[in-house]
Amino acid sequence: MKIIQVTDVHLGRLREIRYGANLNERLDHCIDHINQRHGDATLCVFTGDLTDDGEAESYADLKAALSRLTVPYRLLPGNHDRRANLIAAFPENATDGNGFVQSVFDTPEGRLIFLDSLAEGRVTGELCDERLGWLGARLAEAAAGKAAYIFLHHPPVELGLTLLDPLGLEQPQRLIDVLTRHGNVRYIFFGHVHRDIAGTVAGIPFSVQRGLHARFMLDVVGDEMVEQAPPAYSIILIDGARVVIHSCDFLEQWPLWSPATGERVR
Ligand SMILES: [Fe+2]
Repeated sequence: MKIIQVTDVHLGRLREIRYGANLNERLDHCIDHINQRHGDATLCVFTGDLTDDGEAESYADLKAALSRLTVPYRLLPGNHDRRANLIAAFPENATDGNGFVQSVFDTPEGRLIFLDSLAEGRVTGELCDERLGWLGARLAEAAAGKAAYIFLHHPPVELGLTLLDPLGLEQPQRLIDVLTRHGNVRYIFFGHVHRDIAGTVAGIPFSVQRGLHARFMLDVVGDEMVEQAPPAYSIILIDGARVVIHSCDFLEQWPLWSPATGERVR
């Protein structure tokens, strides 16, 4: 099974150039690339910060762009989003019955679970009792030999990033406790920190990708915080025995060399 993860699209209401990049164009290129190469994917998951300002116009732009995506998709909110505007623009995007943008997607390889960690008005994320209760019930349903894969926007683990660690998920141990209690969570995917990082937390592997917006620097110095690294999306391959993740720098055209002749061909 192939899953695509795209994160931190950050569409702005004014379609402005930010840090030298046009994010609307980036999203269009990303969609073209996925359509051309990964039309066989089961699902494309957007792990939050769909817009930069949460405005209705930005969701309208997002909807127009996504109308060209040939792979089914699921949207999660990030701290830059506004839940009501997201739900209004995408009423077909599943919610959990409690007003949160949480849902499951069952596949032969296991259950994908999408969490809504948005705390409106705060950069940090939260999973309140209601959202965690819903998650526990969905994990319990999946527990009979079925693997579960978690997607959310905010990191539920400190990543060693001095500036960004205080801006992750609030009280992350509450989530980790739910995940470890059920014992069937095989992987956690998230966004938010605009960097490529992988690790484990409480024995559960996780990864985050830098996404479409500018990358936060590893060593933040003074006001120098963001660098315009190439945007990327992830190709996630899952079956009963493995989880494999490829990062795709879809705008890059590296020099090509022929191993047969040793000559440069592009
Ligand atoms: Fe972001």
